[in-house]
Amino acid sequence: MSIIIDGKAVSKKILEEIKLETENLQNKPCLAVIIAGNDAASKIYVNNKQKTAGYLGFESIVKELPEDISQNSLIEEVEKLNRDENVHAILVQLPLPAHIDSSKIIESIRPDKDVDCFHPYNTAKIALNMETTLFPCTPAGIMLLLKEYGISAEGKHAVIIGRSNIVGRPLSWLLLNNSATVTVCHSKTENLADFTKNADILISAAGKPEFVKKEMVKEGAVVIDVGITRDTDGKIKGDIDFERVKDKASYITPVPGGVGPMTICCLMKNTLELFKKYHLKT
Ligand code: GUN
Repeated sequence: MSIIIDGKAVSKKILEEIKLETENLQNKPCLAVIIAGNDAASKIYVNNKQKTAGYLGFESIVKELPEDISQNSLIEEVEKLNRDENVHAILVQLPLPAHIDSSKIIESIRPDKDVDCFHPYNTAKIALNMETTLFPCTPAGIMLLLKEYGISAEGKHAVIIGRSNIVGRPLSWLLLNNSATVTVCHSKTENLADFTKNADILISAAGKPEFVKKEMVKEGAVVIDVGITRDTDGKIKGDIDFERVKDKASYITPVPGGVGPMTICCLMKNTLELFKKYHLKT
């Protein structure tokens, strides 16, 4: 029998700590979110971020911009927030409309307001193991879950499915910085199961519902599911065939209620950290 990792409970505990800390602050952290276009899932995510920020007593700004906004106009919007003394944390919701080069937008965010830690300056610091407090939200959430459940990555073979800049790549650095042996698999990986079957810690961020089957998982592995896909029946599905894999894993995250709540929790944690760096010069 495996232990089901309760991301909702861990997230709630951390959010309550952040709320308490915020109550004692004279000025409040301010998170600004830019969303361009009409992506339905992005709108739900942004709404949840705004609601959570409000619950914690943070200030929050949401800038909704049209689908056909030009790249330069979007950069100007980011720059306005860069200059705004009252804004501590900036997030540009991804994906952006197809005509916009996301990397140019990410580069326009002031690195010391980059709450996602996606700016090349912050990315490099993380990859070089020169950063101790701020990490991209989903990878940071996964590392917090491992810590909370007493799972050490040291010396373990961690296999990640997915090489995105949001999850796979930064997570590979965090695991490496925690002394795991890391393999990053992706859509072009041949014989994927040969890698996954050797994983002590298996993390899937492929976005393909239930594509990690029981035969692909090592007995006793820690299995982390980053996938969130809405199936044709409207149900949210993860990447892992949870019902069959759960008896083989030692620990497993459910979808929903696993990694998802941790991402938003780490976004709030990062917002507070940026605020403290700005106001309290910590
Ligand atoms: N889209 C999906 N996940 C994320 C995230 O962590 N940050 C941003 N900015 N956009 C996303």
